[in-house]
Amino acid sequence: MSGVNEIRSMFLDYFRKNGHEIVPSSPLVPRNDPTLMFTNAGMVQFKNVFTGLEQRPYSTAATAQKCVRAGGKHNDLDNVGYTARHHTFFEMLGNFSFGDYFKERAIELAWNLITKEYGLDAKRLLVTVYHTDDEAFGLWKKIAGLSDDRIIRIPTSDNFWAMGDTGPCGPCSEIFYDHGEQIWGGPPGSAEEDGDRFIEIWNLVFMQYEQVTKEERIDLPRPSIDTGMGLERVAAVLQGQHDNYDIDLFRALIAASEEATGVKAEGDRRASHRVIADHLRSSAFLIADGVLPSNEGRGYVLRRIMRRAMRHAQLLGAQEPLMWKLLPALVGQMGRAYPELARAEALISETLKLEETRFRKTLERGLNLLSEASADLSEGDQFNGETAFKLYDTYGFPLDLTQDALRAKGITVDTDAFSAAMERQKAEARANWAGSGEAATETIWFELKEKHGTTEFLGYDTEAAEGVIQAIVRDGAVVESAAKGETVQVILNQTPFYGESGGQMGDTGVIATDTGKLTVTDTQKRGEGLFVHYCVVAEGSVKTGEAGREIIELLIAEPFALGDERRLA
Ligand code: SER
Repeated sequence: MSGVNEIRSMFLDYFRKNGHEIVPSSPLVPRNDPTLMFTNAGMVQFKNVFTGLEQRPYSTAATAQKCVRAGGKHNDLDNVGYTARHHTFFEMLGNFSFGDYFKERAIELAWNLITKEYGLDAKRLLVTVYHTDDEAFGLWKKIAGLSDDRIIRIPTSDNFWAMGDTGPCGPCSEIFYDHGEQIWGGPPGSAEEDGDRFIEIWNLVFMQYEQVTKEERIDLPRPSIDTGMGLERVAAVLQGQHDNYDIDLFRALIAASEEATGVKAEGDRRASHRVIADHLRSSAFLIADGVLPSNEGRGYVLRRIMRRAMRHAQLLGAQEPLMWKLLPALVGQMGRAYPELARAEALISETLKLEETRFRKTLERGLNLLSEASADLSEGDQFNGETAFKLYDTYGFPLDLTQDALRAKGITVDTDAFSAAMERQKAEARANWAGSGEAATETIWFELKEKHGTTEFLGYDTEAAEGVIQAIVRDGAVVESAAKGETVQVILNQTPFYGESGGQMGDTGVIATDTGKLTVTDTQKRGEGLFVHYCVVAEGSVKTGEAGREIIELLIAEPFALGDERRLA
């Protein structure tokens, strides 16, 4: 039986032997895509290579990529712990061709790996193709010798893959493994397809298009390949397991949590151990990649994940912070494949311990309030949204933690009332702010923060990145665009520019968009969490909503390729 580490190595070795460059996983916070919250697929780091914007010294590559799906498109948080295959963090094994081979070679490489190297029984495999893709249908017949009934045409978006609302995309072909008739379920496209018998293990995307805006789709310069195989899923198959949480890696993490809590992963305790094991992985890897728990953006997603795990630790009866104690087990399992995890071990440990220590102070009181307020409710009832807001505001319970806690009893939360309470609080804060006598020019930053949220700071580990221009301010008023020669202040959704505070100077540099260039003369923190770039339009013009590449001046002289992960290590 092969362990997860061996299965990953076999994959990479196979593609190395077949002429592919082995590229390290990129960080979980995408540096080359301001629209994406987390890296959610292997192709993310190659996005600009597919579209022709960036050149690499190789035309085929393979990776084992760290992925998080817990916010935005591909959001899996709610189900994690309760199902056999949902994770917030997972590894995606992938091979890529940038205008090199296309469908035929991609199918041949995939089929040979799984049937010859991994030795899967071909009789248990079937595939899907996009319903109009006769070419892929014919190739599966020719290369794998599959009969017509095992090549299933699917007419829906299940067989058309897109990274997000924009970016490279194309029809895809998925490989399914039949776990056997003892498990309920039917092949894809059948009435029983939602059952658990036929499990997708590998997705081959025939990248042909780029979605430029919601309405506009253009051809990529050269047809390319992007494949993604879930390492946890294929490990389950190769280890004769049906459930991802029964693979060696998860067994080790769950064993560590059983030992630390003294509670076996059985009965209704099983889900809690699984939540903890899964969330330990995403939390540790996110912290290693520079995300810290906070109340905004990525940091808030991390906080939600951490607190969800911490509530489950409490359910298991842990009297002290638990998560940090499990970290050595994770580093033992994954630290060799991902050295950044071992390097950041002390930081991860401290961050987990601090967050759990703080949260435990209010967790118990919050849970008491929650159980009192839900005592009279039964299945199908709604929990009061005002109380959910109080749990959020006073006890630090993210909404999904409250939802998760009520889930077992079949109770939902009145989310409209929750949002209304949140709005009311914001309005009060605004009114207090307006009355505090700050200068009018300051009010604008507060309003912009209300509208767009705080700026995400990327600068601890990068000095160049992409961001979207959220607002341009000229003479104290918001304007749509600015032209050459004008002096403006600009905010972006994320920035590597350090904002002046605590005696340290703000960064200076350049922001370049498709239509213009800004010289950044200073960066200041404003409105509690906004990074304001003080700029002069040096060339052309810039407008709100445009993507800009931000580069701190010190580095202008250095050659910099987007997505060049070596500099980010
Ligand atoms: N991008 C595709 C996926 O995520 C294949 O890698 O499934």
